[in-house]
Amino acid sequence: MRILVLHGPNLNLLGRREPEVYGRKTLAGINRELAGVAEELGVELRIIQSNHEGELVDEIQKAGQDCAGILINPAAYTHTSVALRDALAAVALPAVEVHLSNVYAREEFRRESLVAPVVLGRVCGFGADGYLWGLRALVKKIREDGNG
Ligand code: DQA
Repeated sequence: MRILVLHGPNLNLLGRREPEVYGRKTLAGINRELAGVAEELGVELRIIQSNHEGELVDEIQKAGQDCAGILINPAAYTHTSVALRDALAAVALPAVEVHLSNVYAREEFRRESLVAPVVLGRVCGFGADGYLWGLRALVKKIREDGNG
């Protein structure tokens, strides 16, 4: 089973980007932790970070051909991107939305997620751990549904 892990804009700066909000772990560190959980679960990961909406759309479309699910932190595009939402809906793969910060405890505009209606569920506010729990929940659901 292959899972696409998609990190959106500015997440390449994790570690030094507003550490009081996003923590001190780097994206490489989070990806290493994800790789450890993936090994334990016996799944393969394709991990991509992009600052470009169209590239994220391309990766979601590609995953529709060769992945069983998507773990996504759309970052700022969460709140703006009809294109990402439409791509997720189009491929119809099970997906889990992750946010490091508690988006409900921040600015008003972060409360709206355009992708939330097309994902299985969301994890937010637990920092990097949210990715690990999100991956576990996604793989469990795929297996329960008999697709892995
Ligand atoms: C974020 C929350 C978004 O509102 C923000 O634009 C990000 C990161 C998070 O992981 O907490 O870039 O998705």
